[in-house]
Amino acid sequence: MTPDEFRRAGHALIEWIAAYRERLSDGDMPVQAQVRPGDLIARLPSAAPEQPEPFDDILRDLDTLIAPAATHWQHPRFFGFFPSVAPLSSVLGDMLSTGLGQIGLSWQASPALTELEQVTTDWLRDLLGLPATFSGVIQDTASAATFIALVCARERASGYGAARGGLQAETAPLVVYTSGQAHSSVEKAALLAGFGRMNVREVRVDDTFAMRSDALEALVAEDRAAGRRPCAIVATLGTTATTAMDPVAVIAPIARRENLWLHVDGAMAGTALMLPELRHYGLGLEAADSIVVNPHKWMGIAFDCSLYLVRDPEHLVRVMSTNPSFLQSAADAEVRSYRDWGVALGRRFRALKIWITLREQGADAIRARLRRDLSNAQWLAAQVDATANWRRLAPVPLQTVCVRHAPPGLEGEALDVHTRRWAQAINASGAAYLTPATIDGGWMVRVSIGAELTQREHVEALWRTMRAAAAASEGL
Ligand SMILES: Cc1ncc(COP(=O)(O)O)c(C=O)c1O
Repeated sequence: MTPDEFRRAGHALIEWIAAYRERLSDGDMPVQAQVRPGDLIARLPSAAPEQPEPFDDILRDLDTLIAPAATHWQHPRFFGFFPSVAPLSSVLGDMLSTGLGQIGLSWQASPALTELEQVTTDWLRDLLGLPATFSGVIQDTASAATFIALVCARERASGYGAARGGLQAETAPLVVYTSGQAHSSVEKAALLAGFGRMNVREVRVDDTFAMRSDALEALVAEDRAAGRRPCAIVATLGTTATTAMDPVAVIAPIARRENLWLHVDGAMAGTALMLPELRHYGLGLEAADSIVVNPHKWMGIAFDCSLYLVRDPEHLVRVMSTNPSFLQSAADAEVRSYRDWGVALGRRFRALKIWITLREQGADAIRARLRRDLSNAQWLAAQVDATANWRRLAPVPLQTVCVRHAPPGLEGEALDVHTRRWAQAINASGAAYLTPATIDGGWMVRVSIGAELTQREHVEALWRTMRAAAAASEGL
């Protein structure tokens, strides 16, 4: 493709994306893809083309094949999983990153990539109200950040044991503590970092689903008494199921006293710290060793963009550095080598989409959107609370409302069947998209509010749809 062909195809593609977003705002498209497993595979050729095809044919197939098989995360009635807000300015930033085609192997390989990442991660840290003692790097996902955090915790506790016999040479097992409400990426990170499932302790939660600090202290004491070595705590700011807030202000002093690494997973809810009125959730964060917040969720930088903040970058670099000769340069002593701040050597120019989006929107507009979502969630919670046979299963500190429709006489498995049936009926109809999930052993439905296009009217429509679907399921 020549630059001129690119210009023409690119304009057509931008037009396609703009029209797609307009169709989403109209709200007529079903939210969930109306396809069955294998439908798309069956309609695609099984081998790559040997000869070039006209770009118009590709655009046509976008309309007829790809878009119908997509579930529309940017749809105003998308209430599933978590909001992954991708404003069009951050789409442009992502496109520009690929257009420049840089790979940040080192500062010299793209000084702009390194230095813009340094500046924009500082911007984000400051917008979250976190102290300048933290330094930031962009990872692809929170899962990667948490993995890196636990490797760093392991290396601090073992006195850089990886340079010797690794965990296999440790005389006592190192233990990680997290709550039963933590994201599955925490256990995955602990397993991949070599701790072993037996050494991941599930700390009990209170009735708001937040980690109980007394239970944490008891487990740490028990492990020490048994000759094991407590190593790290992963606290969650905004758990996946209910956005519960682990009390970092209470957990941090325990971590300090016990000399444990404290990693805080604020993947989803960390964004709330942009709002001064919610900063109290971040009390104690200044004492954390590492924090992850995903701007690619509620904040509104297009996926992927995960902010990993550390208090001791020298330790991170010592753990992650390999430094082969072909990557060394005369500037090394004066610059950041982000390859030593994570697992990957190659680095995308992700900072561009942060830079462009924050400049195009301004932080105030993001704060206003977050407040709109908080208010919509409070509205829905109030409707649920005021309506017979509907139960709200958890506090609503942010934008997620967890509900169950529990008509009299329906319990246990029959209630679970009913819950999943009405939620699945809504998803299958395309009217809205919700996530059924379990809590305390029973099924519930999570309503996660926060798509960029979601206004109060969409939440009102959702509530009508929920009541109708639950009534229909009850009648079966
Ligand atoms: C609290 C929490 N942590 C981690 C993750 C995983 O995020 P990522 O997909 O960036 O790895 C999620 C995703 O939903 C989450 O809610």
